[in-house]
Amino acid sequence: MTNGASYQETSDREPHGRAFLERSLALRRDINSRAVADEEREEARRAPEEHPDPQAEGEQHPVLKMILVGVVAAVIGTVITLIMDWFPEPAAGAANEIDTLYDVLLICSVPIFVLVMTVAIYSVVKFRARPGDTRDGAPIHGHTRLEIVWVTIPFIMVTALAVYGWVVLDDLEAKGKDELQVKVTGQQFTWSFEYPEEKAKSQELVLPVNRRVHFRINTNDVVHSFWVPEFRLKSDAVPGLTTEYRVTPDRPGRYQVVCAELCGIGHATMRQKVRVVPQDEFDAWVEKKAGGGGQAADGKQLFTSEGCGGCHAFKPAGTSATTGPPLDDLAKEAAKRKPGLSAEEYVKESIEDPRAFTVKGFGKNVMPTTFKDLGAEKIDALVGYLLKPGS
Ligand code: CUA
Repeated sequence: MTNGASYQETSDREPHGRAFLERSLALRRDINSRAVADEEREEARRAPEEHPDPQAEGEQHPVLKMILVGVVAAVIGTVITLIMDWFPEPAAGAANEIDTLYDVLLICSVPIFVLVMTVAIYSVVKFRARPGDTRDGAPIHGHTRLEIVWVTIPFIMVTALAVYGWVVLDDLEAKGKDELQVKVTGQQFTWSFEYPEEKAKSQELVLPVNRRVHFRINTNDVVHSFWVPEFRLKSDAVPGLTTEYRVTPDRPGRYQVVCAELCGIGHATMRQKVRVVPQDEFDAWVEKKAGGGGQAADGKQLFTSEGCGGCHAFKPAGTSATTGPPLDDLAKEAAKRKPGLSAEEYVKESIEDPRAFTVKGFGKNVMPTTFKDLGAEKIDALVGYLLKPGS
């Protein structure tokens, strides 16, 4: 209370004085500046031990170390990506060119990616702000020479790669002499192939070795993508468009067409056999295929050629797909499915208008509605085959 008393005393003596105002302002300045000075002293005491500055400590600047770590990581990363088997054994001339291009792209891009990421991760770990460290970083004002270097090098690389890619693409698209024409049609969930000059149709893609093939690609429904991994090239099948590509298969063997565009529930099963054979074997195959064209509609052949087995399991045809209902017990089941329809009528309706009745446990809009275009004769043949496969 001594202070209080003296204050009282003072104010009594100078009741409305300037001196009083000045003294109280001075007191406040004093209190404030003492608090700031305390903070600064505390900071100064703490800072050097808790947040050592690498350079202040006399340590070498870590740029060299970072680049060294980055270069080692880049070499390891590039070697790993080159050792990896990205694609199956090539089976066409184009494949070798594409593989080389792919390797060049890897060699150019992997080191840069790994180097940049290593330096970034190293910096984040090494130079992160410790808890309580509120200091600003050193001011940086750019570096003209460095900026010119890091703009020029990528510019030259990207331009060179674009020119190289264009040269390869031009090569791949070149027309050949005496090309084999093949029309490819995708539909949920199968591929079919037509050889207009040979007048042959097939569910299997058969190609003569070392002859240039010109594919024209269409779809009956949604977007699919026509891809034989061993040939490397891939092209979408787009509604309303005809896409194309050319390839020269150069290794006899058996491969697969894979659909590479998500096209519905049976997408993963949309695969078809590819056979690359010697020319005489191809000629014999074509002759057999073309010869079978004039006969009456054959249900078994239609089941295969129209791709029914791509979705349905049916033992007589040797198929086991599960996208659509199994057809093995169809002869027994068909009459019971829809009251008022005979077995024949029910199966026929299911082919022509698959939305009319959906078997329990299967999706409503899975089966394509395009099969009505087969015409009455072929549909009747299919119905007959499904109900009595033996006859
Ligand atoms: Cu057709 Cu995926």
